[in-house]
Amino acid sequence: MSTPISGFSKLSKSQKISWLAENYFNDPQAGVAVLEQYWNADTKLQQLHDEFIENTLTNYYLPLGIAPNFSINEKLYAIPMAIEESSVVAAASNAAKFWLDKGGFKASIISTVKNGQVHLNYYGDPQRLQQFFDRVKPILLSDCDEITTNMRKRGGGIVNLELRNKTAELKGYYQLHATFETLDAMGANFINSCLEQFAASLLREATESDLILEDDGLEVVMSILSNYVPECLVKAEVSCPVDQLAQAGMSGHEFATKFVRAVQIAQTEVRRAVTHNKGIMNGIDAVVLATGNDFRAVEAGIHAYASKNGHYGSLTHAKIEGDHFHFWIEIPLAIGTVGGLTKLHPLVRLCFEILGNPGARELMQIMAVAGLAQNFAALRSLTTTGIQKGHMKMHLMNILNQLNATPQEKEAAVEHFKANTVSHAAALAFLESLRA
Ligand code: MEV
Repeated sequence: MSTPISGFSKLSKSQKISWLAENYFNDPQAGVAVLEQYWNADTKLQQLHDEFIENTLTNYYLPLGIAPNFSINEKLYAIPMAIEESSVVAAASNAAKFWLDKGGFKASIISTVKNGQVHLNYYGDPQRLQQFFDRVKPILLSDCDEITTNMRKRGGGIVNLELRNKTAELKGYYQLHATFETLDAMGANFINSCLEQFAASLLREATESDLILEDDGLEVVMSILSNYVPECLVKAEVSCPVDQLAQAGMSGHEFATKFVRAVQIAQTEVRRAVTHNKGIMNGIDAVVLATGNDFRAVEAGIHAYASKNGHYGSLTHAKIEGDHFHFWIEIPLAIGTVGGLTKLHPLVRLCFEILGNPGARELMQIMAVAGLAQNFAALRSLTTTGIQKGHMKMHLMNILNQLNATPQEKEAAVEHFKANTVSHAAALAFLESLRA
């Protein structure tokens, strides 16, 4: 049983690793070797990664792949994707190719406003609080002038600030609800700095006007941005004549009807909706990660949006109108193309270069398209061949690696499984037959 350690963060990297090895590794030498194997030979680059977080031991690799042939608003993109799941990049590439000669993807920005709140307690007269807020609002805003200078120069800044009475939902609960335009920045630091300044100014002004001194006086609980951004929305869509959707053994109409039905099921049944949306996030998260953005923020916000009608449902929509098939997605996305890791991480910088250095609005559209493409690929497989055929084909290399296959064995196995069903047992049997 290991004992707690104090002052851990002050230890050097090698001291931290030694402590870990002594206390947690079965074979300390082997464990340390694994950690060191992932260090970058370029010490400056390694130090850059070490300093992204606290207590860094090593690097954690994810494959970075590329899905080419995405036509978005008539511009051709190769989309970088960082993801561990075998079939995701292949599925994205297939969907991109499928839509390439059918007009490609169209995408548009609906809105770009982000928000945050100063959460307050106040048990006094609501009217008095509102009058106080109306009086101090210009002071609160001008107190943020220094923080907002650069953002205002570029055309962004604080959009609005209002007092919201939430006491019907929670006794004594009010909030300052603030909205922001952060342009190409995700804006988390900018928003949080403004909110903390609002809170400090509010308390200062409240103290001066005695509002805070009473028993039921004003209290700041916390100030934080919201990762729910339903006013920062992007839409991506595809459409084509139904007869262009004919698949192996299915007419275009049969395929489109079944596809629309699959989306309706995900709109109705939460158990299906979560998996359906998970597949969408396969595409979105992979681009969010490749571009150094905050995938937890994006995930949290998008799943909340999937429940905006009080019922968790599909993020995508599909219909047949006349002889046309329409398929689209509408999602909130708070992402950035400046700040954070975007200019710091060399691979992230390269991913931006591959994408043609988009601004945040363009990147939102690319991400939404990646999600829609992924969902198209998943539903196309699910409603025709089933998902396992393609998935297991892509997973074959993982199985072969687990079984320590040589390059020659892998080549033979890939050939063999072009015509045979992949499973762990089948791969093992195949290798055993080769080795015998
Ligand atoms: C697997 O990662 C994603 C799918 O399950 C998505 C779906 O079912 O729509 C294939």
